[in-house]
Amino acid sequence: MTEQKQSLESYWMPFTANRVFKKNPRLLERAGGMYYYTPEGRQILDMVAGLWCCNAGHGHPRIVEAIQTQAAEMDYAPPFGFGHPAAFEIADMLAAITPEGMNHVFFTNSGSESVDTALKIALAYQKERGQPSRTRLIGRERGYHGVGFGGISVGGIPYNRKQFSNSMIPGVDHLPHTHLIDRNAYSRGLPEQGIELADELENILTLHDPSNVAAVIVEPIAGSAGVLIPPVGYLKRLRKICDKHDILLIFDEVITGFGRLGHNFAAQAFDVTPDIITSAKGLTSGTVPMGAVFVRDEIYTEFMAQPGAAIELFHGYTYSAHPLAVAACKATQQVYADEGLFQRAAEMAPVFEDALHSLKGEPNVIDIRNYGLMGAVEFAAIEGRPGARGAEIIQKCFEAGVMVRVTGDTIAFSPPLIVEESHIQQTVETLKTVLRA
Ligand SMILES: Cc1ncc(COP(=O)(O)O)c(C=O)c1O
Repeated sequence: MTEQKQSLESYWMPFTANRVFKKNPRLLERAGGMYYYTPEGRQILDMVAGLWCCNAGHGHPRIVEAIQTQAAEMDYAPPFGFGHPAAFEIADMLAAITPEGMNHVFFTNSGSESVDTALKIALAYQKERGQPSRTRLIGRERGYHGVGFGGISVGGIPYNRKQFSNSMIPGVDHLPHTHLIDRNAYSRGLPEQGIELADELENILTLHDPSNVAAVIVEPIAGSAGVLIPPVGYLKRLRKICDKHDILLIFDEVITGFGRLGHNFAAQAFDVTPDIITSAKGLTSGTVPMGAVFVRDEIYTEFMAQPGAAIELFHGYTYSAHPLAVAACKATQQVYADEGLFQRAAEMAPVFEDALHSLKGEPNVIDIRNYGLMGAVEFAAIEGRPGARGAEIIQKCFEAGVMVRVTGDTIAFSPPLIVEESHIQQTVETLKTVLRA
C-alpha cells in the first residue's frame, strides 16, 4: 500500500454492511497456508477457508504454478462450439470421483450459476423425456443456493428474498428446515431427531400432484444458514420419496463437495446418490472462479437422444471451462489426491468435534454442531438485536487473529483441510477468551 490513504468509497461490497465496514475495514492483503495477513502485517488464522472454498490452504505452490503456466500458454478459449483438451481431461478426472453413474459435467463459474444451471437442466430434462407438466421446484427453508433468481427462489433465507419478493420464479415450494434446536442441541454428528421432516415432501406432492413436480433441491448440510446438519435418515428418506414419485433430487454441494466432510461429496458421506450435484468453491480451492454441475448419465443421454444435430441445451457461459479455471482445477484435484486431504479431513474431524464441544457451558452458547470439517456454535441473541452478538464475536476474534464466519448469532467454521490440531486449539481458546470478556 502507498502512503496515501486509499478511498473505500467506490467499491459496493457484496453481502456487506458497507457503511459499517468502511468505518472499520477488515482488509486482507496476502495469504499463505492457513493464514491471511492484513496490510499492517497482522497474521490471521483462516478458520473458514476464505468463504468455505480454499480447501487446499492458501497459495499452494503447485496450484499457483499451474495457473501461471496456463496464463502464459493460452489465456482463453471459447467454449461454444470449440474446446480445449484440458477441459475434457478434467471432466474425466472429476467423473472418477463423483458417485457412480454421474459421469457428465457442465462447467460454470460460481455456485449460483451451478444452481441455476442445475434447475434449468432439471426443467429441460422433464420436457425432453415427455413430462412437460413437471415444472414445479421444491427447495427448503433456510437453504442457500446462491443469488440468481432461480437460487433465491428455491432458497429459504428471508433476507435474501425480501428485496425481490415479487420477482421470484413461479411454482416453488419449500420443505421445512431441519434445525430442531430444542430436540437436537449439542448433537455430535448427525442429530437423532427429525427424520419425519422429510415426510413433508409427501404433503407438498399431494397438494400439487407429483406429476407437476420437476425436482427437489437441498444442501446435504445447509452451510450459509449456520451449518444445519440433517437428522439421521433424513436424506435417505428424501431420496426414497423422490424415487417413488419419479422426481429429480438435486444436492447443492457447493460447500460440502471436495473433502469438506472427509469424502469426495456429501452424497458419498451419507450414501445417498442424487440425480444432480452442484459444486464450486473447493473445485479450484477458491483460486479461480469455477463451478461444475454433475448429472446422472440418464439425464445426459436423454438430451443426446434428440433427433437431428442441433444444440441439445441452450445454456452456457462465456467462461465455462475457462483455461485458467481448468488449470487450477486440475492442479487442485491432484493436490487433494496426492496429499490425501479428504482423508486428512476425516481424520481431523473427531479432533475438531471435541474442541468445538469443549465450548459448551461458555457464556451465551446455546448449541454446538459439527460434521466432518464443518461446525457451528450458536449463541443466544441479545434481546431486540438479533445478529448483534454474532457480529461482535467475529470482530473480536478477528482482532485476536482468528477469522470465523457469522450468520446471525451463529459462528461457523470450515477450515482448510490442511488444518492442524494447534490451529483448532488456538481457535477455541480465542473464542473462550472473547466470550468470557
Ligand atoms: C450451497 C451453496 N450454493 C450456492 C452458493 C453460491 O455460490 P457463489 O457465491 O459461488 O455463487 C453457495 C455459496 O456460499 C452455497 O453455499
